[in-house]
Amino acid sequence: MSKRKILVTSALPYANGPIHLGHVLEAVQTDIWVRFQKMRGEQCIYVCADDAHGTAIMLRAENEGITAEQLIANVKADHQSAYDGFLIDFDNYHSTHSDENRHYSETIYKALRANNRIAVRNITQLYDPEKGLFLADRFVKGTCPKCKTDDQYGDNCEACGATYSPNDLINPRSTLSGATPVQRESEHYFFKLPEFTDMLKAWTRSGTLQEQVTNKLSEWLDAGLQEWDISRDAPYFGFEIPDTTGKYFYVWLDAPIGYMASFQQYCDRTGTNFDEYWAPGSDAELYHFIGKDIINFHALFWPAMLSDAGYRTPTAVFAHGFMTVNGKKMSKSRGTFINGHTYLRHLNPEYLRYFLASRLGNGVDDLDLNLDEFVNKINSDLVGKLVNIASRCAGFITRGFDGMLGQQVEASALLAECQAAADDIAQAYEQREYQRGIRQIMLLADKANQFIAEQAPWTLAKANPQDPRVQAICTSGINLFRLLMLYLKPVLPAMAEKAERFLNVPALEWTASTTLLLSHKINNFEPLITRVEQSSIDAMLAEAAADIEKNAQKPAAATVPQAIDSPLGKEPIADEIEYPDFAKVDLRIAMIIEASYVEGADKLLQLTLDLGIGADGKPETRNVFSGIRSAYKPEDLKGRLTVLVANLKPRKMKFGMSEGMVLAAGPGGSDIWLLSPDHGAQPGMRVI
Ligand code: MSP
Ligand code: ZN
Repeated sequence: MSKRKILVTSALPYANGPIHLGHVLEAVQTDIWVRFQKMRGEQCIYVCADDAHGTAIMLRAENEGITAEQLIANVKADHQSAYDGFLIDFDNYHSTHSDENRHYSETIYKALRANNRIAVRNITQLYDPEKGLFLADRFVKGTCPKCKTDDQYGDNCEACGATYSPNDLINPRSTLSGATPVQRESEHYFFKLPEFTDMLKAWTRSGTLQEQVTNKLSEWLDAGLQEWDISRDAPYFGFEIPDTTGKYFYVWLDAPIGYMASFQQYCDRTGTNFDEYWAPGSDAELYHFIGKDIINFHALFWPAMLSDAGYRTPTAVFAHGFMTVNGKKMSKSRGTFINGHTYLRHLNPEYLRYFLASRLGNGVDDLDLNLDEFVNKINSDLVGKLVNIASRCAGFITRGFDGMLGQQVEASALLAECQAAADDIAQAYEQREYQRGIRQIMLLADKANQFIAEQAPWTLAKANPQDPRVQAICTSGINLFRLLMLYLKPVLPAMAEKAERFLNVPALEWTASTTLLLSHKINNFEPLITRVEQSSIDAMLAEAAADIEKNAQKPAAATVPQAIDSPLGKEPIADEIEYPDFAKVDLRIAMIIEASYVEGADKLLQLTLDLGIGADGKPETRNVFSGIRSAYKPEDLKGRLTVLVANLKPRKMKFGMSEGMVLAAGPGGSDIWLLSPDHGAQPGMRVI
């Protein structure tokens, strides 16, 4: 049979935040599928990239005082190391801010334009006159026009659920500067999506999508599609649209094209033929693994663009549900937001891979990471069942038979059953029914343990360690273990590698299920995986909670609203915090003894602060960068008292270390007021 040619992608994580366990769910789901295909000998290529463009990234870089390019390079390295930690085996990992992506974005855009699929017209949007930026809905807040609740985002009210346009908000303000937005017109570029309605009706109903997804899309398709706004005005971090000035591709236009860009980079590196995978009528398969929140981009815009620009469309789009932690949405304010690196500092990646596999089906249901169930599942399945089979048999073979497996097996029926399961289990992987596959594997593990317990080789070995029946029983046990480990290899690649060393065999491929290991020398047994300890879970959760505090303390938070400062750009300030949280903040009176402009930073002033006499009896000064330049001249600040967050962890900025944060309030621009203590206050005093 000829090999299948398969190209697989996971959604490109945004470069404005870290990899969290929701991303890991998706990557693990994809990686298991890809590893399975590779074990089957198919030609399967897995590519991904960082999604590096957009306003949020531009603003975050500005806040951190670095260039967007520096920011996305740092984040990419951080993302890749997190994915590595979870054993995600990408064949290529690129960035949407790349030459390849610019090339394909321009090529596709020009093809759409040549086919008369691009409309240009003026639209009116809210504009922040102070920042000089058009404001996306999430950057506008105001009073709900319906129920009059204050502090609601530009598109919907969290209090009454009304949806509206930001133009309807009462007293709107920019969350970036506090300024009152004005209406401003500009020219935008639209992709004429409605012209693809028939094509999309056929495509979405042709078996390319899960049934739940097809149904959802049918509702949208029947309701009528809208033209899609694919341009954004400068300043924007992205690619300028060909033959325009100051118009950029909207981040979601070039994001899926990033799949092609990453694959092109792979092709250049390996000499693979790009067109074999992307030309219309290609016999290669193309699959996108994504979360259910981004279906419209992958199942409407993307196939329409591809087909019109002369490329093949995806073979299928596989959407999954969202991860919750202990039954709650992953959320920073609830302490259920766990970063990949935080997990990895405390727990083995294969625990999570296995737990996810044991819960994942091929639908769009959410998946709960209940940490009690997690501990039970790992300790009972992996340690109690799987490893136990090998650890109970290995010693007898090593001690009694010099590591040689016998020529005979004892449980031939059970072994045959285990071998015959290969097809069913393969089907479960192929259909992304991992939960079903794992259930079947664990049923077989139960039978294997039962067999060993019944035969009790330890009793026979006590009488005669060289009893041939001991060898036959343990040879069966080790063969059962080998088959189960083989079936679990897509999920547990590192453990499988250790098992291969123990079994003294080359890398296991799927066809290994048709053979048995007889008259074969094995190596000494070494522990394959250890129990999960509750203390590790607790330590991880404590660190996750601390991560959240750190985020809440970023220096820019004092003068730039938090909505753009948090890694996801979505997390509001907590409604309420506990007193002990507040009590951790060390607020001190400080005197500004030096203030100066910072070259290359139009928001910052550099302040030297006097904190009085420190604990060591010496005068204490601090260097702080503060985003108050729009409101103060350096010379006006010298000699003034203000309030400093003195125990904020120092942060390295492009211009130097910032050792704390001065407190200020106001809507922004020239209206920022440094908090000034009353007379009588002295540098170094604690604010109580
Ligand atoms: N950058 C876009 C994707 C562009 S693809 C051309 C994006 N990025 S994201 O970082 O917000 O999300 C990346 C993927 O992670 C998406 O598929 C998203 O659904 C998934 N998840 C984000 N949070 C998740 C959970 N809590 N649970 C499971 N998956 C989640 O969207
Ligand atoms: Zn309302």
